[in-house]
Amino acid sequence: TQRTLVLLKPDAVRRGLIGEILSRIEKKAGWTISALELRELGRDVLEQHYAEHVGKPFYEPLVEFMASGPVVALVVEGERVIEGVRALAGPTDPIAAAPGSIRGDFGTIVRENLIHASDSEESALREIKIFFPGLA
Ligand code: GTP
Ligand code: MG
Repeated sequence: TQRTLVLLKPDAVRRGLIGEILSRIEKKAGWTISALELRELGRDVLEQHYAEHVGKPFYEPLVEFMASGPVVALVVEGERVIEGVRALAGPTDPIAAAPGSIRGDFGTIVRENLIHASDSEESALREIKIFFPGLA
């Protein structure tokens, strides 16, 4: 069984979509939320989280956006949850994302695409350690 790190980004929180998005994740058979917290992210945490994007043209505006209000950080655990949450989210560009996916249903702007989900087992372990260092 796997764990993944999910962030409901500041746009999702501002727009009142926490319940809608958590509900989609929670309804998947056998998946469990094993940690959950509403918090504001500082630049230090964001630089660790988005280390692979430091220096790219979208990095600074991305960090600015991710620090613009609280996010909901959670760990989801269950069968193929890494691939599974990314499938629920849809591709990065919400206009390219199919209706029925979270980004496809609610997004229009690439940066403000509502949700982050770890993209591999390696990323999941790394990201969970950043957000929930106490998790066994
Ligand atoms: P995350 O789950 O948030 O990591 O999204 P992702 O894995 O689908 O995308 P990626 O890791 O490549 O990029 C991280 C985030 O940066 C994206 O979710 C977007 O919010 C933003 N981003 C990525 N590429 C672009 C881009 O070309 N332009 C802009 N403006 N933002 C981008
Ligand atoms: Mg990513």
